[in-house]
Amino acid sequence: MSNVKILGFAGSLRQKSYNRAALRAAQQLLPQEASLELFDLAPIPPFSEDEEKTPPAAVTEFKRQIRQADAILIATPEYNYSIPGVLKNAIDWASRPYGDSAWSGKPVAILGASAGKLGTARAQYHLRQVFVFLDMHPLNKPEVMIGPAADAFGADGELKDEKTREMIRKQLAALVQWTRCLKQGLP
Ligand SMILES: Cc1cc2nc3c(=O)[nH]c(=O)nc-3n(C[C@H](O)[C@H](O)[C@H](O)COP(=O)(O)O)c2cc1C
Repeated sequence: MSNVKILGFAGSLRQKSYNRAALRAAQQLLPQEASLELFDLAPIPPFSEDEEKTPPAAVTEFKRQIRQADAILIATPEYNYSIPGVLKNAIDWASRPYGDSAWSGKPVAILGASAGKLGTARAQYHLRQVFVFLDMHPLNKPEVMIGPAADAFGADGELKDEKTREMIRKQLAALVQWTRCLKQGLP
């Protein structure tokens, strides 16, 4: 397996989102033989089980890109000590209809930036719980929890903090290694 294709998305629609900015930084911090495409969750409507067998085009495209990717990178904000509805909504769409989930068996890494000092820790552990039912393979370490985000990013949205950049670099390298390891284990 040469190039590892990673699909990244952020659970924030905010124009100046720190989490979206963290993903843009990640694109500069990839190891060799890895690529990171970003998907914007904005066009994904609220989930309705009535529509899960005839999903909107944005959901079909999201599922297609997930399936094409070797690994997933999620940048989650923390809303009220948990994951934002926008993120859970997108995850739910791509998990349906039952038996046609796009997530099964995917390696996944999480990073997150928040206003609080814990840097999305609580949201990240909620997200890990969701991965259990989705049968995903989360990378355990390194964890990347960026908080307070305003200290790490400049006004231009650039990730300035060198230690945080290094953590993301290490996480991406570990995700690529984890992905290769899982692929080799398959018959
Ligand atoms: C509804 C809501 C709930 C929030 N709850 C938390 C929280 O539980 N913990 C925290 O650290 N920050 C919380 N925040 C602040 C976010 O960390 C902050 O808005 C952050 O910038 C959101 O990520 P983004 O920049 O990617 O949009 C909350 C913000 C909103 C809008």
